[in-house]
Amino acid sequence: MLGRYVDNLLTRLPLQEPAKKVAGTVHQAILDGGKPVRQAVDVLHGTWLGHPLHPVLTDVVIGAWGMGALLDLIGTRRSRLAADTLTEVGAISAVPTALTGLADFSGIKQSAAGAGLSHALMNTIALVFYLFSIRARRKGQRRQGVFLSAVGLGVASASAYVGGHLVYNKKVGVDHSQPTADLSEWRAVLDADKLRAGSPQRITVDGTDIALFRRGNQVFAINAVCPHAGGPLNEGQVEGETVQCPWHDSVFNLSDGALVHGPSTFPVACYEARRRDGKIEIRTRQAESAEDEAAGEESSQEPAYA
Ligand code: FES
Repeated sequence: MLGRYVDNLLTRLPLQEPAKKVAGTVHQAILDGGKPVRQAVDVLHGTWLGHPLHPVLTDVVIGAWGMGALLDLIGTRRSRLAADTLTEVGAISAVPTALTGLADFSGIKQSAAGAGLSHALMNTIALVFYLFSIRARRKGQRRQGVFLSAVGLGVASASAYVGGHLVYNKKVGVDHSQPTADLSEWRAVLDADKLRAGSPQRITVDGTDIALFRRGNQVFAINAVCPHAGGPLNEGQVEGETVQCPWHDSVFNLSDGALVHGPSTFPVACYEARRRDGKIEIRTRQAESAEDEAAGEESSQEPAYA
């Protein structure tokens, strides 16, 4: 109910078009910066972490500010000192948190751009209230400082709700991967002469869309749906043994599906592929099969609730 109301409200704000322009400009600047900039931005995305870094850092900011508000309420001399310190810790932590948010915003899916910009603007307003609060606290104007930080916390909390809306409603930052096709045996999936270098093919195997690529005598197979936001990897730009998604430029290794550059923080499923008897054949990568079997011995099914 509240989620639908917020969605309607965010949709009516005239932020969608400006947000797309800002995100596109930042994204282009990152691409123009070349490999060193992309590697730095990958750190901000959280490619090294296996999921987005931004929500991890927001916990530090909200945690510090929330605990600071509680200590303000307690109101003893020691708790007030601790509250002042936490107010500043939250404001300092807000800077790297904003940078991770900006990195993610640069690759945000278009349908969520307006909500993303609303989230960023609310966080900026909250930070400004906190900066004025810190100034008042340092000058000894305690009541004013506490009031300003309380307003800031209210705005930050509303913004946190919008952040949750972006993830759980708009599905920003979640893994969009299709399930991996279960191919324990080699399966012929395409006539080999239909797969040419420079012309990837998209096929469907047991309900999973798979992209096939050819480079010289090598054949590669990965899931066709980009884990970042569902882009068609078969339409991506191939360079060496990598493919760049056409939607937000995540780069994946064709030989093992590993993530080379974000904004995706998830790799793409990859299969073994070969040419045999005029056909392209694929199967599940054997290393992954062995891992699945080992995991399956411990537990294979999520138990049902009693
Ligand atoms: S859909 Fe965003 S990088 Fe592929």
